[in-house]
Amino acid sequence: MVEDPTRGDFVLGFEGLAIMRAWGLDPETVRERAQSIAEIVARRAETPWRDAMVERQRGVRDGYASQAEGYPGPDNPIVLAEEPLVRELLDALPTGATLDAACGAGRYARYLASLGHSVTGIDLTPEMLAEARNFVPAARFELGDLSSLPLPDESFDHAVCALALTHCIELGPPIGELARVVRSGGRIVISDVHPVMSMLGVHSRYPLGEGEFGFVQNHVHLTSSYLAAFREAGLSVLQCIEPLWDDAELEALGFADDVPGLLEAAVKGLPIVIVWELEKA
Ligand SMILES: C[S@@+](CC[C@H](N)C(=O)[O-])C[C@H]1O[C@@H](n2cnc3c(N)ncnc32)[C@H](O)[C@@H]1O
Repeated sequence: MVEDPTRGDFVLGFEGLAIMRAWGLDPETVRERAQSIAEIVARRAETPWRDAMVERQRGVRDGYASQAEGYPGPDNPIVLAEEPLVRELLDALPTGATLDAACGAGRYARYLASLGHSVTGIDLTPEMLAEARNFVPAARFELGDLSSLPLPDESFDHAVCALALTHCIELGPPIGELARVVRSGGRIVISDVHPVMSMLGVHSRYPLGEGEFGFVQNHVHLTSSYLAAFREAGLSVLQCIEPLWDDAELEALGFADDVPGLLEAAVKGLPIVIVWELEKA
């Protein structure tokens, strides 16, 4: 039987990434990270390096049902990077009927309601919708799938869809649905985990306790795939924004504090999320 992966294995993955990013450009960092690898390997039978880290894959509903209470929590680096950008785009919208698609616990439904929008939220996870109904009594919430929204054509002035398309295997159906329910001239704001992150193995991960983690898979959607789906749906791109991991996001990650310089070398400067502002023709 294969042994469970350990915290040491996980940290070594970051060390390898740091070396590849520094290769040829920064020999000092390569040497420091190689030295750190040697130290971790030498102590891999000791705590904390030998501590098991077991990952259990969950479907969207199960995974988000477990994360619903208090979602998204105070220290989520992805939300930290994404939220100010999305809010700025929402601030610029004329108030109207606005859809929060895959609304989760109502983070943007609440913000839109505070701006004076008439808000409808749709999500696949009943536990998330229960949180959203408590959090945003002014909005209407319904169970539904992004790929077949239970909503009439052109019934919204605008839509937002935050951090959810990465859970869809194909982009075409959900983007087609967002375009269908928004009127001509309406705006659509989309945020998502950046494809570089998904390619590096970042998923929506939450602790289960005792060295176990649950995760919902993030599928990789390249920028070219978004552009093809937008074109097919009749959406034009007004802006595409790609913020990078910086000190605040690394601090919020709260990981590997005991390995000096690791996250700066491995993660800082990589794109963390992708944010799109779109207009329906
Ligand atoms: C990372 S959370 C984001 C929630 C919210 N948009 C926010 O940004 O706070 C992802 C949400 O997408 C929902 N979701 C994922 N796939 C979906 C689908 N196909 N249809 C509807 N909701 C979906 C999940 O249930 C979950 O609530």
